[in-house]
Amino acid sequence: MLAILSVLCLYLTNPVCGVIQRLLCTFKDSCDCDFKPNIRDLEWDLYKNVYGQHLAQDIVSEEVARFLQNNNPERPLVLSFHGSSGTGKTLVSSMLGNHLYGSAMSSPYVHQFVPTLHFPYPDQVNEYREELKSWVQGNLTECARSVFFFDEMEKMPPGLIDVLQPFLGPSHVVFGTNYRKAIYVFIGSTGEEVINKMALENRQSGGDRDEIKWADLQEAIAQAAYNSNSSGFFHSSIIQHNYITRFVPFLPLSRRHVERCVHSQLCQRGSCGRSDVVEAVGGDMIYTPVKGHYFSSTGCKAVPAKINLFL
Ligand SMILES: Nc1ncnc2c1ncn2[C@@H]1O[C@H](COP(=O)(O)OP(=O)(O)OP(=O)(O)O)[C@@H](O)[C@H]1O
Ligand SMILES: [Mg+2]
Repeated sequence: MLAILSVLCLYLTNPVCGVIQRLLCTFKDSCDCDFKPNIRDLEWDLYKNVYGQHLAQDIVSEEVARFLQNNNPERPLVLSFHGSSGTGKTLVSSMLGNHLYGSAMSSPYVHQFVPTLHFPYPDQVNEYREELKSWVQGNLTECARSVFFFDEMEKMPPGLIDVLQPFLGPSHVVFGTNYRKAIYVFIGSTGEEVINKMALENRQSGGDRDEIKWADLQEAIAQAAYNSNSSGFFHSSIIQHNYITRFVPFLPLSRRHVERCVHSQLCQRGSCGRSDVVEAVGGDMIYTPVKGHYFSSTGCKAVPAKINLFL
């Protein structure tokens, strides 16, 4: 019965099909039913709740909107997040997951990999390769709109991630599975030196942070990811084939950004008015380089612990 309704949908107009789709979704769970992308909410969340990351905000909004507007994308969306600890990489990846699926990051179609947890032994790369490949393939067969997050890319055993290369390119539909609708997000610190250097030069020359352009960093990040032997993309064919749609730089955060993080977290705890705590936490962070004290060495990561100290 459900199959007949699904087939019928192929021949009907959009509104009728929408009704049938909703009817189907009351009977069974599927990724099409749970897939409820809300680009406006994603953009709003990014611009309102992520501080000091104009490049990440623009690139993620632009690329996700472009990708989802196309019902038949030529290739999957592959984003690679780069930057120092505590600058918002995990925060932005959660926002992305949250605004794609109805059940947000807990959706069974949103998958997260952490090398220290899932691939802890470098000498077992061959086994991991097989497992990862069949696992991704299995999930794509079940749900073409699957989302995969690979965190801590700098700890990914070299050679492992290349097993995904066939899925990341403009592959054809294989056995009814459309590999081109998936989203992959790689997250790591590789490239932080080039990103932080550019932010520092910009700051020292008295420039506006917003003047840092995405295009000035792309090649340098790609090179760093490809050439660093502590990168999961070390000599990776994924980079050789240009299968990363965009490299997303996360800039180091300065004191005013840290203080915004403190303020926002204080508000969440019902203590919005405690500007003394904002000031105290902002002043207690370590800023680098020592000469200039420009950027927080832990971004906003240590903020909750410091708030506990001063509140
Ligand atoms: N740019 C930012 N704007 C707002 N909050 C931020 C920002 N960066 C970090 N935070 C906050 O700081 C904490 C740590 O951020 P997050 O986990 O995203 O860092 P990360 O870049 O993933 O660091 P790591 O590389 O150590 O995993 C979170 O509570 C997050 O909400
Ligand atoms: Mg993180």
